[in-house]
Amino acid sequence: MTTRRTFLRVAGTSAVILAAGGYGLTQCDPMPEVAVEAWRGPAPNARDPRVRALSYALLAPNPHNKQPWLVDLKEPGAATLYCDRSRVLPQTDPFARQITVGCGAFLELLRMASAEQGLRAEISAFPAGDWPENAVGEQPVCRVAFVPDAAVARDPLLAQVLKRRTNRNAFDAMAVSPSEAAAIGSALQALPVRFGWTADERQIAQLAQIAKRAWDIEVKNDATFKESVDVFRITGPEIAKHRDGISLHGPFFWWADKLGLFTKQNAMEPSGRAQALTLIDPQLAVRAFGWIVTAANDRRAQLAAGAAYVRANLKATELGLAMHPLSQALQEFPEMLPLLAEHKRAVGAVESETVQMFFRLGRAALAEPAPRRPLDAIIRS
Ligand SMILES: Cc1cc2nc3c(=O)[nH]c(=O)nc-3n(C[C@H](O)[C@H](O)[C@H](O)COP(=O)(O)O)c2cc1C
Repeated sequence: MTTRRTFLRVAGTSAVILAAGGYGLTQCDPMPEVAVEAWRGPAPNARDPRVRALSYALLAPNPHNKQPWLVDLKEPGAATLYCDRSRVLPQTDPFARQITVGCGAFLELLRMASAEQGLRAEISAFPAGDWPENAVGEQPVCRVAFVPDAAVARDPLLAQVLKRRTNRNAFDAMAVSPSEAAAIGSALQALPVRFGWTADERQIAQLAQIAKRAWDIEVKNDATFKESVDVFRITGPEIAKHRDGISLHGPFFWWADKLGLFTKQNAMEPSGRAQALTLIDPQLAVRAFGWIVTAANDRRAQLAAGAAYVRANLKATELGLAMHPLSQALQEFPEMLPLLAEHKRAVGAVESETVQMFFRLGRAALAEPAPRRPLDAIIRS
């Protein structure tokens, strides 16, 4: 999330850090293996097909990598998915919309990985009733029945699940072609969503400017910025301990941590915020943006948007394209609402529609996998 250049300015100790690099410490503080072992797929000894399918599902993209999933497997041949209410984002996601989108992505991967095993995942959304409009409720997100069905269609996108990443690197200058965008759109066509994209320079400039202003609002607001800072995991040992949140590791963070120069506390201070404000700039040099819109905004529509988003990300992976959501302008806390309306107009959505996901699309160096908690941590059996 933080670039090397930014870090150097945060720390103000460039000589020390550059010296560290010069002494061959570039392998210092790598991503801990244990934190990313989930990306190897199901454990070879996992016999229960539900567990094998869940090993893919927990790789779903999800807000702030909070991984708010809880799965009850007590009922044979079925699974009940709950949302862990201690892992939500009430400041940036006051209506639990984004958390529900993440659950939709989880369910889509569960469905695909079940099909691969000849099981049709029959998903009943909110079987005990919907959550309140502005909170994650105690009610389950869904009950899934795993029904043997030799004819269930296998999904070729499953092959991309272990390779999919959220890519926050700077994107290169090569354009995204209309046929690539059309291929992404066609991967979502069975879902009740609308996919849009642009390669138009003026529209890109307008959307980039909105994204920049939205980032500014989120960072300058104590409560919303703190939701990110709270999940900063600084250096390998902290990443290995939590296996969630926003990973900050490598020689620069290692040194800054050792020298006490980068802490959650100083990230919240004016100098830390000033640095955070610049982080988005290199990310906004793009040749394409994409978005996913729904006509309704009930919980089912949000689940569908999550399924659509992960399918788009998987298709992009297959095409060798990078994707990175920029959700700030879609957030529904009061200070953001004017920009949310401006953003909706800028992507050509009408008043009654909801822009569920907005992302940059392009080509970039591969991103590293994000940590995942162990499967045991989300299963109640
Ligand atoms: C609803 C939703 C909103 C997201 N918004 C952002 C965002 O604004 N900025 C960002 O860097 N990543 C965003 N992400 C991506 C997550 O941070 C990412 O999925 C998570 O850190 C796990 O990483 P992975 O996708 O590489 O597995 C979002 C994901 C979802 C599902």
